[in-house]
Amino acid sequence: MKRLLLLTFSVFTFIAASAADKVIRIENFDYLEVGTKFKVYGSAGAQLSDDVASATVVKDPRYSFGNILHVKVGSTPAFVEFDIPNGLTGSKASEYERIAFEMMRPFGQTDRFQGSFVVSFGTTESLRTAFADIDVPVSEENKLKTSKMTYSIKKVSSFSKKIRIGFTVRNTEYYIDELRFLTTDFKYDYTDVEQTARYHAEKLGKSIGVCVNPNQLNDSREGQTIYRNFNMVVGENAMKFDATEPRRNSFNFSSGDQIVNWALKHDMQVRGHTLAWHSQTAQWVHDTEYSKKEMLSILKNHIFKVVGHWKGKITEWDVVNEVLAENQGRGVGAGYDLRNPGESVWYRRCGEEFIDSAFVWAHQADPDAILYINDYNIGHWENHYESGKTHAMYNLVKRLLDDGIPVHGVGMQMHTSINGLNVSSIEKTIKEFQTLGVKCIITELDMPGSNPSSSSEQRVQATKYAGLVDIVCRYDNAPTFVVWGIADDRSWLENSEQTKPLLFDPEMAAKPAYISVVNKFKEYAVAAGNPSIEIDDHNPLLAGDDVYNIMGQKVATSVKPADIHNLPTGLYIYRGKKVYVE
Ligand code: G3I
Repeated sequence: MKRLLLLTFSVFTFIAASAADKVIRIENFDYLEVGTKFKVYGSAGAQLSDDVASATVVKDPRYSFGNILHVKVGSTPAFVEFDIPNGLTGSKASEYERIAFEMMRPFGQTDRFQGSFVVSFGTTESLRTAFADIDVPVSEENKLKTSKMTYSIKKVSSFSKKIRIGFTVRNTEYYIDELRFLTTDFKYDYTDVEQTARYHAEKLGKSIGVCVNPNQLNDSREGQTIYRNFNMVVGENAMKFDATEPRRNSFNFSSGDQIVNWALKHDMQVRGHTLAWHSQTAQWVHDTEYSKKEMLSILKNHIFKVVGHWKGKITEWDVVNEVLAENQGRGVGAGYDLRNPGESVWYRRCGEEFIDSAFVWAHQADPDAILYINDYNIGHWENHYESGKTHAMYNLVKRLLDDGIPVHGVGMQMHTSINGLNVSSIEKTIKEFQTLGVKCIITELDMPGSNPSSSSEQRVQATKYAGLVDIVCRYDNAPTFVVWGIADDRSWLENSEQTKPLLFDPEMAAKPAYISVVNKFKEYAVAAGNPSIEIDDHNPLLAGDDVYNIMGQKVATSVKPADIHNLPTGLYIYRGKKVYVE
């Protein structure tokens, strides 16, 4: 019996993430050594010895990276002391009216967790949140159950540099993580893992990525926004030819290594960008008029050295980038024009075969890497100025495949715009490349607007970002969704602070576009992960109803509830509700 999943019809709720959604992280333990101890105090303020109570950093068993704090309490209530980063004084202190953290109780505990949560600032002000009994469920045998705890804390004039928190409980133990202060006008808590696109994308086996530079890879709000919300990074410039081989056969992997090492530490994938491109090829390649034979030897050496250096760490590569000419005006099956030789030193000196050879060499250098041909203006299949170039890319990929070249996918850069993007035309392209048996992914998405501060443009931008995620979730050959920059003031685009093309604002606050991306991944992750819910009205006497696909097209007429499971696997709209047939 196929399982039916009844979903609440999630209408896109417009959440205007406030620009003031501020978080001050007190501690997330990820950057501390396992075994680090925190001081623990009793109710009267005396420090407690380890045998009475303890608070120790341990590996986070929920994820493949990060740590949490394990608190053990003996016969007297225990309160753990934390430093507040840079302290909080005066008006800044009064902005923060809530304290939040994640809490877990280990499997096997039987006692109710009864007591008060207490937070005291320094050793003077203490604040007791009176409650008789909180429900912090114990974990299942092999899975920690996370409870999100948030407590209002009265306005305090000034926080000292330390707080102590704990519960008036005895003889128990628990874990805490992501301890932080929140402002009251709080819409989006970037440290709440379940509010991140990463969390839900990973449940679907999808990659959501962002381009980065080494100076972003730290524990700042920016660095945290990157590793918490994305599970893939790509070097904006660090792995290009001019960066990795600045002089002939003299390689510099330092910037790329910083990106790869930081990504792997945060359990993120890395995509390599890019091996053969007419732009950002090192100047020494241009300065000498190398023969075709020498150029191919240079390219082969470059590819083997670069791909070989990160073999097993970088899972996919943009092997060649932007090889097509702009104006193709072609249809499917009508060939393709490569970029003008005057623009491409590789094409000019080697001819078209540099493309074929680059893929063969990349595959030899790392047979497990997924190999992409990447380009811009190849997203729209129809009714768009890009369409001819898109068809040309289709024709080129088909020619490469017919010649046995190991091309595994097409990267659509998607440097688009709020008004120019037609989401359904992108879906058509992904579907067409699916017929060739290759992946078709979004590799450099940015979506500037003409008046992006207006709520209407923000809404359109959010809807279109979500529309692209919707396609990614529905197509197996569209596993990756990468944006070209983390925040509106960190884009390659001119005056991007005005055109606002990306998912986060300069203060790293989530924009409506990001919230819609999270909601869309979550919608599918919930659908995929929900326990099956039987359609309740199986009354055979009930008249049937029409069934629609999620594009709103009718796919079946007067289907009775009991017969829905006969539909092909997929997501449908039935009686105003989303139904997922497995
Ligand atoms: O590294 C030099 C530095 O030494 C020098 O002081 C500085 C000032 O001239 O320039 C630095 O190089 C810059 C480089 O980025 C690294 O920051 C180049 O001038 C600048 O042109 C280059 O821009 C990059 C652009 O590719 C180059 O075409 C952008 O950051 C990058 O976002 C952009 O990304 C490309 C993708 O790789 C391919 N698809 C299109 C996309 C946008 O053009």
